[in-house]
Amino acid sequence: MSENWTHIPIMAAQIADLLLTDPNGVYVDGTLGLGGHTKFFLSRLGPQARILGFDKDEEALKMAQERVNDPRLLAFHASYTQAPQELKKLGLPGADGALFDLGLSSYQLDNPARGFSILHDGPLDMRFDRQNPLSAAVIVNEWPMAELERILRDYGEERNFTKLALAIMQARRQAPITTTGQLAQVVEKVYGGKRGKTHPATQTFQALRIACNRELETVETVLLSLGDIIKPGGRAAVLTFHSLEDRLVKNRFKELAQSGQWLLVNKHTILASYEEVRQNRRARSAKLRVIERIKL
Ligand SMILES: C[S@@+](CC[C@H](N)C(=O)[O-])C[C@H]1O[C@@H](n2cnc3c(N)ncnc32)[C@H](O)[C@@H]1O
Repeated sequence: MSENWTHIPIMAAQIADLLLTDPNGVYVDGTLGLGGHTKFFLSRLGPQARILGFDKDEEALKMAQERVNDPRLLAFHASYTQAPQELKKLGLPGADGALFDLGLSSYQLDNPARGFSILHDGPLDMRFDRQNPLSAAVIVNEWPMAELERILRDYGEERNFTKLALAIMQARRQAPITTTGQLAQVVEKVYGGKRGKTHPATQTFQALRIACNRELETVETVLLSLGDIIKPGGRAAVLTFHSLEDRLVKNRFKELAQSGQWLLVNKHTILASYEEVRQNRRARSAKLRVIERIKL
């Protein structure tokens, strides 16, 4: 396993300032990734603190454990939707804080073998969890046209969803589409080649990744169970990278605030500083929302 992969944790200092209210508290890192946020948080926490770290990606989880190398981290190869059960099993009444840094890590994106990359050819995979039987190749080669149209429209926000779905159907009739490069070419043809800075297949890849990992359903599930994760007085922070995710978080946080049992810590989304975006392009689309469960 390569040790060279990097993933710079986004808005780490701001999140730590807002989330770590008890230096010896219990925290949930729902998306451990390469352990960037957790390592930073632990550097600010006391000896009794605990972080329960979750990731669906076993490879990332192993790397995170090696990098963080701290007994205060308890790592789980599981979805963050399992956080309530794991807290319960440990006899903990809830967490003082939880972070959900949604989407994929630079390690997953930049590693062609994981099949997320438009620029580097690799197998058409895109699964966070390799035990998940639904890869992007299965969707592209087996799903009916109407389903392809649906995900391209709803998850990719693609205006050309019908044209693209048709092009995929035609291409797969010739031969299965098995690599990211082949799929990128199919999309490029529809758009008449590459134009501008953003690759024309960006939205198609986003749609497939979301469908393959059931990303929006999972976010909705965890947002509905925040009351089983965060204890009174504790906080939840969510970092999103596109409008579909952010809309879900915004709406759910609004409902929670209206219930009178939660308080929005920030009314407007917090964005990364100009300096951070300059150093880490991935930070440019990040939006942070934080909510607090009121102590009754
Ligand atoms: C943006 S990265 C997190 C990076 C991490 N904060 C860091 O600083 O290294 C998102 C991670 O969440 C994981 N992930 C996505 N959906 C998940 C889910 N439902 N449960 C657990 N992990 C998930 C992905 O596998 C990926 O490793």
